[in-house]
Amino acid sequence: MNPDTKLRGAVIGYGFISGKGHIPAYQQRMKGQGDVDIVAVADICEARRALVRQALPGARIYDDFECLLAKEAANLDFVDIATPPCDHARITHAAFDRGLHVLCEKPLTTSIEDARAMLDHAREAKRVLFPCHNYKHAPVVKAINEIIASGRIGRVRSLTLNTYRNTHAKGVTEWNTHWRREKRLSGGGIAMDHGSHTFYLTFDWLGSYPTAVTAKMSTLEPQKYDTEDNFTAVLTFPTGIAHAHLTWTAGVRKVIYTVQGERGAITVDDDDLQLAVMQSTTGPDVAQGAIEWKVERRAIASDWMDASHVGWFNSLFDQFKTAIERGDHAGKEAREAFLCIQLIMTAYRSAREGCRELELPGL
Ligand SMILES: NC(=O)c1ccc[n+]([C@@H]2O[C@H](COP(=O)([O-])OP(=O)(O)OC[C@H]3O[C@@H](n4cnc5c(N)ncnc54)[C@H](O)[C@@H]3O)[C@@H](O)[C@H]2O)c1
Repeated sequence: MNPDTKLRGAVIGYGFISGKGHIPAYQQRMKGQGDVDIVAVADICEARRALVRQALPGARIYDDFECLLAKEAANLDFVDIATPPCDHARITHAAFDRGLHVLCEKPLTTSIEDARAMLDHAREAKRVLFPCHNYKHAPVVKAINEIIASGRIGRVRSLTLNTYRNTHAKGVTEWNTHWRREKRLSGGGIAMDHGSHTFYLTFDWLGSYPTAVTAKMSTLEPQKYDTEDNFTAVLTFPTGIAHAHLTWTAGVRKVIYTVQGERGAITVDDDDLQLAVMQSTTGPDVAQGAIEWKVERRAIASDWMDASHVGWFNSLFDQFKTAIERGDHAGKEAREAFLCIQLIMTAYRSAREGCRELELPGL
């Protein structure tokens, strides 16, 4: 492949998601499509820099993203931001100022104002802002999307999305393993860390954006941590309703999603998908057995237990590449990342105000 057609990238933050997810996926892609090259990496932690030198021997390594941009920007197309959320906005603005596209890990950032400024800057700089909304690329999630699109369950009217984790997600041990429990670094607990995945899926499945939210949250060890570990919200959509529950204090690690349509339903328990479709809606009352459901069960290997989700990255990167080719600077994915931040911050306010239902103004 002509080397000029390769996208040249730099990764900022060589922690868990970069080390186990992004960089191995780039290395696969370099061998396969050959349309990307990671030429530089920045990390503030010496021990992580030592590890990336081994993992990517050809890359130039920096201890600070600003030094990296100053030296490398002229020869780069994009940066991939994989630091904790507190730095996403600062690094994004610096990258846009240097004319680079940005692939940014979720959550996009930790305030509505920052999220809006990032979208505005993408439009002004005419550079792509693209969030890592990688759950959209899980094989079982793609199967749900296909069933909904096929019309087999009719119009979707309600959802439940349960995310069970037996602990908070941990960062690499060489830096600050428990940064997700420090609000100054994470911006919040499980809703900030994981809520985006839940919320962008609800947008797709209900085919609209929520207009109101009510939320409740708790922290089981408030003397130890200033971020929530249990979060429940109900979202009102023009097309239906969604119930989201996220916990870091579960006895199991899994997702359980249900999608209720007019003529059927989908239930997902990690890889296991059950589709129930009504066969007859006429005749006597259902209590007399008039309606039958045709039930199909499938297992769709999606590697949920691998938290790096390395297998989902290539398809996400395809979308990022397409956005660059099309000049889709603050496209649907970026706008949905903004809506996720607006939702999370509004849900936090609802929880602080006694679960009061609050409007979501949208874009
Ligand atoms: N999409 C997903 O499925 C998924 C999964 C895990 C993590 N993430 C996201 O990835 C990001 C990183 O999470 P992680 O679990 O890899 O964390 P981590 O703690 O394992 O890694 C963070 C790395 O960033 C470095 N770092 C911190 N501040 C920096 C800065 N200003 N400049 C350069 N390097 C810096 C640290 O030294 C560390 O090596 C977060 O936004 C997180 O939400 C996403």
